[in-house]
Amino acid sequence: MDKPVMIKVTPGSALRGEVRSPLLPGDKSISHRAILLGALARGASEIDNLLVAGVTRPLLNALTALGVSWRLDGTRLQVQGRGLGGFSEPAAPLECGNSATTIRLLAGALSAAGVSAVLDGTPGLRRRPMDRIVLPLQKMGVPIQASPNQTAPLVLGHRPPEQPLNGIEYTLPVASAQVKSCLLLAGLGGKETLTIHEPGPSRDHTERMLTSMGALVQVEGNTVRMTPPVDGLAPLSFTVPGDFSAAAFLIVAALITPGSELMLRNIGLNATRTGLLDVLLEMGADIVFSSREQNGEQVGDLRVRYSKLHGAEVSGDLVVRMIDEFPIFAVAAAYANSPTMVRNAEELRYKESDRISSLCQELRRVGVEIEETPDGFRLPGKTPPCGGHAEAHGDHRLAMSLAIAGLASESPLAVSGAEMAYESFPGFIEALRKLGAYVSSNGQALSGNSG
Ligand code: S3P
Repeated sequence: MDKPVMIKVTPGSALRGEVRSPLLPGDKSISHRAILLGALARGASEIDNLLVAGVTRPLLNALTALGVSWRLDGTRLQVQGRGLGGFSEPAAPLECGNSATTIRLLAGALSAAGVSAVLDGTPGLRRRPMDRIVLPLQKMGVPIQASPNQTAPLVLGHRPPEQPLNGIEYTLPVASAQVKSCLLLAGLGGKETLTIHEPGPSRDHTERMLTSMGALVQVEGNTVRMTPPVDGLAPLSFTVPGDFSAAAFLIVAALITPGSELMLRNIGLNATRTGLLDVLLEMGADIVFSSREQNGEQVGDLRVRYSKLHGAEVSGDLVVRMIDEFPIFAVAAAYANSPTMVRNAEELRYKESDRISSLCQELRRVGVEIEETPDGFRLPGKTPPCGGHAEAHGDHRLAMSLAIAGLASESPLAVSGAEMAYESFPGFIEALRKLGAYVSSNGQALSGNSG
């Protein structure tokens, strides 16, 4: 969906009902990993409930350019893995769209495969820092260069199979699952153990999937060691859990909108992802959930009811465990009845937008009191949005958070750039409508419970 979309959310209706896949999409992080690891496996993988959206399309196109065949039937993906050395050299630069996960993980997989390629993306992606992967990959012996300001495009040279990559010991300067996963994927192109230390507990889906495929992965606190399997990776067969980061928008929607009660089914509840859940419970949220194991990940159902929230303090490891949820968390905090403070979250400045500055700017525009700090923000609480018009800054999570902010604002709230929701949650507007919200799009009324 490239056409500009402006949505207008009219407050006043409670959200009620149930959402599950495919309306609630498969997890973005697990989907990226499943596509790439499926391509690197020896043989055919089958992955159900894949996120089919703006962020995963470039990765599927990249597989085609690398000579890997795949078939998508709805959200069911079949990939014919070609093994670790099986990629063909792509004839043209691989376009990664706006997705930093795509470019960073793809760089790792291509490093393991040893093929030469150019990786590029949108002007937004070209602003994201790449030195964080380039430096450690170079230490491993990968012939890779970024542009002079350490951003995309990335240029990878050919590496002959008789030159395996070095197994290094490396400490990440910031906790980042994208960097950790890039290095773990690259490590498959070596014979030695790779050791990565992280300053915080970033999401561990790659470790879990590599283990299920036969790699030896040991985790001790924030250190991971991986020894590549001698006979390559076994294929995958599993169902991607619902995306907690997408569910987060609906969770906060129900918490701030009087009279709401929602049921969200089959949501990924991996503890490295659920920091927002912990904070919301501490803020007084009425959320009940249970979880079970499914293919090495925790998955569960959540029942969420409208709640009177109080503010919270967020810092340290909790920031890492809710790194994608700060825009929607700030919306919940605006409706809370006491102050909220976020510290140690400077990393938010390197996301799809500078999420500290764009979030504060747009929430202030619609009447929320919020103050930017160098590494976070603070809100006094008790200043829900009045309504008006806000802009998504090309950032899918900001677009969806601003729309949710309008569900209980004083007057309607319009968001331009709302097409960005298609990047990670294609059914966002449809899910809100199904639950009873009044949302119009580009002037066309799409009202509650009509769809
Ligand atoms: C992701 C890791 C996080 C997160 C992003 C997805 C991943 O980024 O913000 O949306 O799938 O590994 P960082 O690794 O930069 O923190």
